[in-house]
Amino acid sequence: MADFIPEDKILEIKNAADIVDVISGNVLLKKTGKNYIGLCPFHSEKTPSFTVSPQKQIFYCFGCAAGGNVFSFVMKRDGITFPEAVRMLSRQYGIVIPLQKMTDAQKKRHSEREELLAVNRQAMDFFCKMLPNPDSGKQAAAYLKKRGITKDTIIAFKIGYAPEGWNNAVKFFSKQNTPLGIVEKAGLIVERGNKNGFYDRFRNRIIFPIFNLNANVIGFGGRVMNDDMPKYLNSPETAIYNKSRSLYGLHLAKQKCREKETIYVAEGYFDLLAMHQNGINNSVATLGTALTSEHVQIIKGLVGKDGNVVLVFDSDNAGIQAALRSIGIFLNAGVNASVMVLPTGYDPDSYLLEFGKASFLNIAEKARTIMLFLMDALIDKYGLSVEGKIRVVSEMRDTLSSIEDRVARSLYIKELAERLGIEETAILEKVRNASFRADNGLPKTEKQRTFYGKLEKLEQQIIMMMLQFPTILSEIEGRNILNLFEDDRLKSIGQLILSHKDRLNTKLADLMDLVDDQDQRSIVAALAMADYKWDYAACLAVLTRFESLRKNDKKALIQKIKKAEESKDYELLAKLLNEKQKMAVLTEKKKMSLLK
Ligand code: CTP
Ligand code: MN
Repeated sequence: MADFIPEDKILEIKNAADIVDVISGNVLLKKTGKNYIGLCPFHSEKTPSFTVSPQKQIFYCFGCAAGGNVFSFVMKRDGITFPEAVRMLSRQYGIVIPLQKMTDAQKKRHSEREELLAVNRQAMDFFCKMLPNPDSGKQAAAYLKKRGITKDTIIAFKIGYAPEGWNNAVKFFSKQNTPLGIVEKAGLIVERGNKNGFYDRFRNRIIFPIFNLNANVIGFGGRVMNDDMPKYLNSPETAIYNKSRSLYGLHLAKQKCREKETIYVAEGYFDLLAMHQNGINNSVATLGTALTSEHVQIIKGLVGKDGNVVLVFDSDNAGIQAALRSIGIFLNAGVNASVMVLPTGYDPDSYLLEFGKASFLNIAEKARTIMLFLMDALIDKYGLSVEGKIRVVSEMRDTLSSIEDRVARSLYIKELAERLGIEETAILEKVRNASFRADNGLPKTEKQRTFYGKLEKLEQQIIMMMLQFPTILSEIEGRNILNLFEDDRLKSIGQLILSHKDRLNTKLADLMDLVDDQDQRSIVAALAMADYKWDYAACLAVLTRFESLRKNDKKALIQKIKKAEESKDYELLAKLLNEKQKMAVLTEKKKMSLLK
């Protein structure tokens, strides 16, 4: 069972790992007044809006609203979990985390995550043992050999075999006295109908363990050895396995990616294995999903902002589609990506097997930036007839107008105009129209914002005072102010502050560790970053105003309902009635709490 990190160690690490020091490793920070600012590593920007407070030990980006404490920063930068971030910083700052037996109470709190990791590790060991087994694993070993996978690769990637039969894993875990409920949660076994026991998910398949950055097993992929369907079966998403953040081979590639500031991204298990086996070790694979923005953040953390990402695609249309989908993600993240295309009918695995490394790298050298690749692909698809050119421009329009960097945008527009042999201004006009349309989407939310504006602002202000002026907490608790909150996220942050009010006092950075949700951490950071000079009387005034606004709000709402009825705006009416309903529930709750 994985060990547990004592709370005082977490504190010690947090005290040692100064947030300015840690972030300086990735962001060039400049001192301005009390804070430091720099260019945000989480979105692309020209003017710095990424702010770090050494006093509060928190960061917040006014551009993309990323925020949190030193652990949240490392989690987001590397795409890892809280304990992983704690461990990473402990190593960096030379703090030894003692191995510690857990007390019963701690065991209870011990997260499901750690149990799932332990179960996966056991399962991996089991599958690994089955592969060299002269009886059961014979066919599997032969299959891997036939596909050119070496012994070294099998060992490095811990490739295994799930034997034929319905209950090999079930039996294995029963023998170990591992509760089958948690094995099921890990996705290794499946409950039979009528709750009649379990059966193995992976049967008669080659098994590829999927690791996270720290080499923990988070899931598995299994391939059949014939033409059965499905060709690959993967673990379901679990508390530890999230497809959109996992990259196959990442744990073995990370060092080389950092050194070379370049990463190859392929699509399949065997592709990745072939690349590693050919010494192209700075490679990962996405495993059948489109590249997500989370993937790109992880990649960016490895190769750096100015590093290179080379997308390796099969020549087929699916590859082009994947490039089309991921282009916006790379643009938004401010990461350079290029695309290398293999000849028709080959994927990296089959290409490397047939032509070898040198030939593969030759093609890699000719990789084009993703934008130029996209232009060429569309020109290939639609041709250069008048109609074709019109199609190309209209398909490029949204992508071009989403480029925030003006210089880059105008260069790409110029490039496209040249390739199509048309006037730049013609494309420019289209792109401008597209941006105009995008802006027009706003008014609706703007309307909503003014309707709730005052309240939402006040709720924010109240959370802000709770964070910055804890003296007010007992007043807020006593008056049940949070019961009047409409914004659920703000409300739950408020509740969290109240439930830890004795321990936390003013330690904002500690509060971050209690907030599971990244959005909520960002809200806390945003509200904590500002510096107001609170005093008790001013706080009371805000609270009283909030309470009375809530009450008058009901009157105003009834007025609006009448108006909507008169004007027969049924859509609005439904919305308002819904609001009224919500308000009634709130009042009810409030009454109940007064009676208590
Ligand atoms: N994939 C999957 N489930 C499937 C098919 C594919 O998860 N039913 C994922 C696998 O990670 C696979 C990748 O998508 O490696 C690419 O799929 P594909 O090109 O069909 O397979 P290959 O990787 O070429 O597999 P192989 O070489 O073993 O035939
Ligand atoms: Mn293949």
